[in-house]
Amino acid sequence: MKITKFLLTLCACLSCTLWLHAQRNGMPWPDTDGHHINAHGGNVIKYGDRYYWYGENRPDRGFTTEVGIEVYSSTDLRQWKDEGCALAVTEEPGHDIERGCIMERPKVVYNARTKKFVMLFHLELKGRGYEAARVAFAVSDTPTGPFRFLRSTRLHAGKWPFDMSRAQRKAAMATDANAWKDWWTPEWRKETEKGMYLWRDFQGGQMSRDMTVFIDDNGKAYHITSSQENLTLLVSELTPDYLDFTGKYNTIAPGGQNEAPTLLKHGGRYWLICSGCTGWAPNAARMFVSKSIWGPWTALDSPFTGSDATLYPDATDQPRTFPASKTFGAQGTYILDLGDVQYFMADVWNPSHLRRSLHLWLPITYDKEGTPVIRWTEMPFQK
Ligand code: GAL
Repeated sequence: MKITKFLLTLCACLSCTLWLHAQRNGMPWPDTDGHHINAHGGNVIKYGDRYYWYGENRPDRGFTTEVGIEVYSSTDLRQWKDEGCALAVTEEPGHDIERGCIMERPKVVYNARTKKFVMLFHLELKGRGYEAARVAFAVSDTPTGPFRFLRSTRLHAGKWPFDMSRAQRKAAMATDANAWKDWWTPEWRKETEKGMYLWRDFQGGQMSRDMTVFIDDNGKAYHITSSQENLTLLVSELTPDYLDFTGKYNTIAPGGQNEAPTLLKHGGRYWLICSGCTGWAPNAARMFVSKSIWGPWTALDSPFTGSDATLYPDATDQPRTFPASKTFGAQGTYILDLGDVQYFMADVWNPSHLRRSLHLWLPITYDKEGTPVIRWTEMPFQK
């Protein structure tokens, strides 16, 4: 009798622990202390026998960065331990990462040559809204940090995309974007595609907002970012130590208004999955494919399909339903490639309480042509 009771209690405790740590899409994801994981817009890497999840530590109220970039560790992708702040804001007035700046979309990569962990992120300077539009670099000897802030910068001042012909440069220089009044007209679109914003920012450097970092099979790293007022994506090669740009870069989908870029290499092709530009509100995802990281990129249909998602953004909220055509209420942040399975990692932004924004990890499947397909999956780790 005593043994049966003991076994029953044990089962109850085990299922309770499993439930507590069950990562269920559409609901808060508790860490090992029971707190919703506060690592948004980030990425996951594997180092040794552990995974590390980096992301924006967001306050419950407000939009600015008060803490920094948070890091969690896990051995099984299910139970995540909060390892604290990997890169903290400073109290130094005027510093690039002074508390009150905006740090977004951090991506950490391990450089096997230098044995360093390199973090790139989108940085906005304190009190300047989203106008600085910089990319920042930080570095660490260990995965949990503390990372050392290196610098923040705009991109490629005084440099043209590597494959832009003389005639194309001339066309980009023909229009003064500052003098252009009416946006969204067919004429404006044409000038945007020709590169009037590229030219506007040519001397001071190109804008860099939503971003990702992609490491190719040969170890080369690339930074992909929303530039030119979020109208055009840029892909830029990083130096072998990942701490700078080589200067080689190119545009993707000029004037296409793509944000939240995520990149995957599968079946010898590069698949780029992005969102449109509607701020925190979800929209339809876009997909592009190319045989080379330098393009040409072909636009495809959104990979999101199938039945709606039901989300429980907050314990006090009513459930909300989102269709595949709205990326299940989310915006992508990274594609975690584990070899046998790839996860599309995304955030369901909750702008009233950014800290509570949900995480979605959706396994990617492939159709018979090898094109990515993403369906709603409630339990991402159940086969
Ligand atoms: C989104 C972007 C987020 C954040 C937000 C601010 O479009 O993806 O990372 O910048 O806008 O409104």
